[in-house]
Amino acid sequence: MCGIVGYVGKRNSQNILIEGLKKLEYRGYDSAGLAVFTEEGLQIKKAKGRLVNLENKLDVEPLNGFIGIGHTRWATHGKPSDVNSHPHTDNSQKFSVVHNGIIENYVALKEELTALGHVFVSETDTEVISHLIASLYEGDIVKAVQKAVTRMHGAFALGVLTEYEPDKLVAVRYSSPLIIGVGEGENFIGSDIPAILEYTRNVYILNDGEMAVLTKDGVELMTLEGNFISRELFYVDWDIITAEKAGFDHFMLKEIYEQPKAYRDTMGSRIDESGTKVVLNEVKMTAEQVKSIQQVHIIACGTAYHAGLVGKSIIEKLARIPVETDVASEYRYRSPIITPNTLVIVVSQSGETADTLAALREAKRCGARVVAITNVVGSSVAREADDVIVTWAGPEIAVASTKAYTSQLIAFYLFGLYLAQTLGSQEAEYIASVVSELKELPAKVEQILEQGEAFKDWAEQVASHNNLFFIGRGLDYAVALEGSLKLKEISYIHSEAYPAGELKHGTLALIEEGVPVIALAIQDDLFEKTVSNIKEVKARGAYVFGLHAEGETELVKAVDQVFSIPHTLPLLSPALSVVPLQLLAYYASLARGNDVDKPRNLAKSVTVE
Ligand code: G6P
Repeated sequence: MCGIVGYVGKRNSQNILIEGLKKLEYRGYDSAGLAVFTEEGLQIKKAKGRLVNLENKLDVEPLNGFIGIGHTRWATHGKPSDVNSHPHTDNSQKFSVVHNGIIENYVALKEELTALGHVFVSETDTEVISHLIASLYEGDIVKAVQKAVTRMHGAFALGVLTEYEPDKLVAVRYSSPLIIGVGEGENFIGSDIPAILEYTRNVYILNDGEMAVLTKDGVELMTLEGNFISRELFYVDWDIITAEKAGFDHFMLKEIYEQPKAYRDTMGSRIDESGTKVVLNEVKMTAEQVKSIQQVHIIACGTAYHAGLVGKSIIEKLARIPVETDVASEYRYRSPIITPNTLVIVVSQSGETADTLAALREAKRCGARVVAITNVVGSSVAREADDVIVTWAGPEIAVASTKAYTSQLIAFYLFGLYLAQTLGSQEAEYIASVVSELKELPAKVEQILEQGEAFKDWAEQVASHNNLFFIGRGLDYAVALEGSLKLKEISYIHSEAYPAGELKHGTLALIEEGVPVIALAIQDDLFEKTVSNIKEVKARGAYVFGLHAEGETELVKAVDQVFSIPHTLPLLSPALSVVPLQLLAYYASLARGNDVDKPRNLAKSVTVE
């Protein structure tokens, strides 16, 4: 989720690249860099932190030249630092690469290249690409890149330069977006349209598995196998604000639609090549340490806390270890019983939430080992935890968290499976079946998103009410809590999530004619019980919107409207069933005319107690 800009033409590339990167700043980044072909050859300048740090370096030593690549990095592999910033180069310093995405097999490639004498200086997966291309170069950069990509697994958008062919900029798209901007006597690449919008509105949108070779005089499009492609130019008539959201009306909607990619990226290199088990190299616990865990405490705030509630079920089911989930602001003041055999998991998108950080410190003070699940490499939580599982959701801009939450669920599945593998608490066959279903989730989310507009209608019906209920049992209840929070956060409609079986102990009194109830009936083993509870609210006049798994035929008789989600293992269903609820909240907020991305009274990151 980093930003790429590239330029070849007749103007000073440094200024164009910096201006392009400034247009991508809104996405969030932690470092930046440029590579330009100058009179002294290929030169690179990089700086941790804001773009102004890079600009200050360039003021002292400008990079003058007519071809270059630039990058803003959002750290995934390795902390934010000058050396980990892009562009990366090889030992000869004749090649330079900027990259968005994740190279899943970079460890194997790094070992192979190290054995051939390559020396690596950064912790990144990207540096492997520049070395790989250098090692395959035989006088034709296009062929070297084509060969290199056959060796790479994962997701990548690339911009590549070599000093040997200083008129060419090579671009690749594979599961990470990249566009080509076409000007007069100059051409551009960009990870996103805003990067180039100031210079041209004529673009080629690359598809997965395609590449482009740009010179100042033209652009050649081809497949990664080298077959030329002809394509119509796309004229971008968006303004800059629309372009920042990739054509979506709001960042929240864009981020909801980015979830399949966030799932794939977060799983990526953490599922082994056989597709039967999980590899979590970032968790450094020994088998003895894992076996000594007697209890797990999951601590978080807000949406991350809701991910932790699902995490509890995942770990208890897979690893058979007792788990408590607590909100961080409560945990630290309730004298929790923490022993050296307690594993504490803190979950935080930002990694900076004050309450979560304080709880982490309390846990460490009591001698517990702390695993962090966070979206921000180098954040306070990541720095202070013993082990860090980074969710590769990319920057989340909307205040209401969506892709960060679902990526946290994926991290819990991976961690639960890792514990089960280490403890032997589940048969290898069962673990393989969960891994296989996990890999199906992104495509299943895509199926839900294809029907996303269906929720406009639900939302419009809901938006005229001031009170509603979400009900469910088991994991459906955990998801109901998140659905209810999402609705409250951005639509300002009061809603309550309730365990469906608990309604009869009081809350049923609030159900009257026409009150909307969103009922989740996804969990197979609890289905009949949930349907009985739905009948209880129906009998008191509720208008029920039901969610069930595909193939289920009974729910339709019990509710007023129904939506099916693709079938998966009950344990994995939260990663699907939350998506309709995110869309419901989004469209309800829209129907009420609210500022979806910046809800009142809320901040994205809460760094005060
Ligand atoms: C704030 C945000 C929520 C978020 C919570 C925890 O309240 O508005 O969306 O879930 O903080 O944030 P964290 O960064 O720790 O996940």
